[in-house]
Amino acid sequence: MREKLRHLKDEAWRRITEADDTGELDKIRVCYLGKKGELTGLLRSMGSLPPDERPEVGKMVNELRGQLEGFLKERIVDLEARELQRRLELEAIDITLPGRQPAFGRKHPLNQVLDEIKAIFIGMGFEVVEGPEVELDYYNFEALNLPPDHPTRDMQDTFFITDDILLRSQTSPVQIRVMEKQRPPVRIIAPGKVYRVDFDATHSPMFHQVEGLLVDERTTFGDLKGILRAFIEAIFGEGRGIRFRPSFFPFTEPSAEIDVECIMCNGRGCRVCSHTGWLEILGAGMVDPRVLQMVGYDVDQCQGFAFGMGVERIAMLKYGIDDIRLLFENDMRFLNQF
Ligand code: PHE
Repeated sequence: MREKLRHLKDEAWRRITEADDTGELDKIRVCYLGKKGELTGLLRSMGSLPPDERPEVGKMVNELRGQLEGFLKERIVDLEARELQRRLELEAIDITLPGRQPAFGRKHPLNQVLDEIKAIFIGMGFEVVEGPEVELDYYNFEALNLPPDHPTRDMQDTFFITDDILLRSQTSPVQIRVMEKQRPPVRIIAPGKVYRVDFDATHSPMFHQVEGLLVDERTTFGDLKGILRAFIEAIFGEGRGIRFRPSFFPFTEPSAEIDVECIMCNGRGCRVCSHTGWLEILGAGMVDPRVLQMVGYDVDQCQGFAFGMGVERIAMLKYGIDDIRLLFENDMRFLNQF
């Protein structure tokens, strides 16, 4: 019996020492101390011993059980501490790492240019007004002196929704909407999206315009020239040549197109200006009296001028962008440059 116990103890100690996780220790515990465990079995078989040996053997078995329980507990505490340590190391967070910078957004280059244009005109006393993009034929064409079937309607290839509803092809309808509600003096700019059936490297079916309108008692072509010169100098820098070319728009008379000396070659001639040295950037003119009459203005009491520009074109010239589609693709490699 003693032999047996010593043997059992040796074996148990070896197994407990070798165990390297708590799960295994638990198995060992069951194996010796469980209901069907070896030590429990020994206790049960005491009945087969001669009565005078029983107390001594009983004491030994109980002692061994106490030792075994103690040793197991000790090892469990050990292993648990080791496992905790291992997890702490594995899941450690290095709080000395610098945090990740959140990416800062910024304005799209088109909006940057649009803001700049607005700021220049606001500085000259213009008010910013917006109007609908889905517009009536009346405001987009008729009230601007473009009756149905007028040949100059073809100047702007238009998206029609029904016979008399369309996607505005210019922001000029906003000037009519404002004049219908407000008597002179009127001094507004109308920025916004416009739509035309057109798509290539320099044309997009949706683009942005800023239109200006000033109507007052004595507004002259000289005022128009002065304001546009001030605008061009503010946006492209001072000392750049400007020229007014006679042109035609149905709602202005006389009309002009305004060119600036090429930003890329300073007027020497290059690919961007088609070797002319000039870039067209604005349409303008004195508001045709018929347009003023249609909104009920007394043309003996007031006159005005209007001008219009494409925001994409100004952005492309300002930043040397040669394909308008870059402005709409939202490629971060492109946008990050602004
Ligand atoms: N609305 C014209 C266009 O889109 C531009 C323009 C505006 C011309 C105002 C003259 C006066 O072509």
